[in-house]
Amino acid sequence: MRYILFGPPGAGKGTQAKRLVAAHGVPQISTGDILRAAVAAGTEMGVAAERHMSKGQLVPDDVVIGIIRDRLQDADCKEGFILDGFPRTIAQAEALSAMLTELSLAIDHVVSLVVDDELLFNRLTRRRTVEATGEIVHLDNLPADAESTGMWNGQKLLHRSDDQADAIRTRLEKFHAQTSPLIAYYRERGLLRDVDGVGSVDDVQTRIEAVIG
Ligand code: AP5
Repeated sequence: MRYILFGPPGAGKGTQAKRLVAAHGVPQISTGDILRAAVAAGTEMGVAAERHMSKGQLVPDDVVIGIIRDRLQDADCKEGFILDGFPRTIAQAEALSAMLTELSLAIDHVVSLVVDDELLFNRLTRRRTVEATGEIVHLDNLPADAESTGMWNGQKLLHRSDDQADAIRTRLEKFHAQTSPLIAYYRERGLLRDVDGVGSVDDVQTRIEAVIG
């Protein structure tokens, strides 16, 4: 099982990837998570990436392609993987295709989560991440004081630096300009599966399971 979870910022890629990992036992490969870990560790790559990420811009192709090239060699990817947030440009898609050909592998499905920009904006401004577990949550689903205290169930809630209004607008613009051409790219190759990303998290998961079989 090798597939790409594709969609704009806030479409639910991370939320669904974590559920699909639990259901299918293949790893989630999130370039966003890998880059944020590098930022937190203060590595040279992290420091360079942070300059792009905090403004909502894409990190250069060669950096993310290098990350994926290394990650796909890991033993846990042998039985499959879920790519989350990669590829995001045609150059990245071409590089992925070349890497997979070298490994005699192929992508089975590109699951494209469809959500309109207004809803995405709301999801992102009110998204928080539980520091200790990495769980992705939305303030509307938490007690009223979670927003003001930044705490939930005794756990610290993190607010991503690129979830500020200006950075969200830039991320949505970058998605439409640089990433959405991949929709036609994968449709032409017979791999694109459109999935309505609006509805409960359970309902969206059921729709995804229906298309990946
Ligand atoms: P990345 O971390 O990949 O961010 P993104 O693509 O912008 O996606 P998000 O993580 O914001 O959203 P998501 O779709 O995972 O939604 P989520 O499940 O959290 O990338 C961050 C940055 O890293 C990029 O901007 C770029 O700088 C860099 N980068 C990463 N990859 C790169 C690449 N390949 N090339 C270049 N640069 C790269 O859900 C969002 C919210 O909605 C949550 O609050 C959640 O609880 C809620 N929610 C989810 N599903 C539902 C639902 N069904 N109903 C109601 N609420 C829901």
